Amino acid sequence: MATDLPTTQRRIVLRRRPEGLLAHDDVEEVEAPVPPLEDGEALLANEVLGIDASVRSWLSPAKGYLPPVEPGEGVRCSTVGRVVASRCPAYAVGDVVTTLGAWEEFTVIRDDLFSTWLSGPDPTYDTTAFLALCGSTGCTAYIGMLEVADVQEGETVVVSAAAGATGSVAAQLAKLRGARVIGITGSDEKCRWLLEELGLDGAINHRTEDVSARLKEMGARADVFFDNVGGPVLDAVLSRLALRARVVLCGAIATYNDTGKAPGPSNYLNLIQQRATMTGFLSLDDIPRFPEIGARLRAWEQEGRLRYHAEVFEGLGSSVDALNAMFTGANTGKIVIRLG
Ligand SMILES: NC(=O)c1ccc[n+]([C@@H]2O[C@H](COP(=O)([O-])OP(=O)(O)OC[C@H]3O[C@@H](n4cnc5c(N)ncnc54)[C@H](OP(=O)(O)O)[C@@H]3O)[C@@H](O)[C@H]2O)c1
Repeated sequence: MATDLPTTQRRIVLRRRPEGLLAHDDVEEVEAPVPPLEDGEALLANEVLGIDASVRSWLSPAKGYLPPVEPGEGVRCSTVGRVVASRCPAYAVGDVVTTLGAWEEFTVIRDDLFSTWLSGPDPTYDTTAFLALCGSTGCTAYIGMLEVADVQEGETVVVSAAAGATGSVAAQLAKLRGARVIGITGSDEKCRWLLEELGLDGAINHRTEDVSARLKEMGARADVFFDNVGGPVLDAVLSRLALRARVVLCGAIATYNDTGKAPGPSNYLNLIQQRATMTGFLSLDDIPRFPEIGARLRAWEQEGRLRYHAEVFEGLGSSVDALNAMFTGANTGKIVIRLG
């Protein structure tokens, strides 16, 4: 057990539920006590906080796969850090661990489903790279594209939010399987990144182009549609399905800031015409496999077959802007907040 441990820390708590984008005064930065450790607990000094779409959905009152964050509680997110004190046999001081923490400097961790040991003491361990490629979004991309969609060589694959954290990995994995991959994203610059850096076969700017018309121009019908977005983009791609297409619903970020029910897609009858399936999945079901999947992604990255990009925000004070960047599309790749 290390000495001179912090007794207080800075953390950001929810003040009231946001409507639409998170406003700066929906949350509050507070000085909070760091509780003394009980047996079976360790203290993690967070180095990077991961921003993904679920962070916003947990601020809404609807019950999802985890309970909503209540006013007064820290804003939940995944984190990676180094253990600074331990009363848990699973972790030693200096170990690198990822957990489901919050917008906070320190998180108390246990040896449970949400905390994973990543490395022994290693000052060179790149915690940002871990979150950007091998954390929950990378593992989601792997499960959704390679297992749920089970993409095959020669198939045409369309990915929405293709320049984002999940989409960029999903699109590259489809390329690795030998598919023709078309990415949908929200700016010409991101379209260029998809084509030039990730080597996709086509890119469509959903803000300036008619997605359905562009797919038709490209002569593309989707065997697989990996959808991160929902809303009008989903509807547009449903109009361009191949026979026996698999539509894999990963997320619907276009709807997360709305209150009320998400509108249904009007082109769904095309699923009948094309004998297609539409399948939702939650990578949460496979959390115990994340270390193994993450190691595979890391190996492919080291072999030069996969790339990632991290959009880095600095300090707890940037949290609100970091979260909102996902909804304005200001990010390429994974949004992380670096602390310290
Ligand atoms: N099923 C699961 O287990 C699971 C696990 C993790 C994540 N997810 C889902 O995966 C999706 C992506 O999450 P992520 O964390 O990787 O975020 P991300 O893709 O890095 O960021 C979100 C992107 O969505 C696009 N976007 C935002 N609002 C949009 C709108 N109204 N219409 C079209 N595009 C919009 C923006 O890119 P553009 O510039 O391209 O518009 C933005 O960059 C989310 O829907 C999330 O819920 C699912």
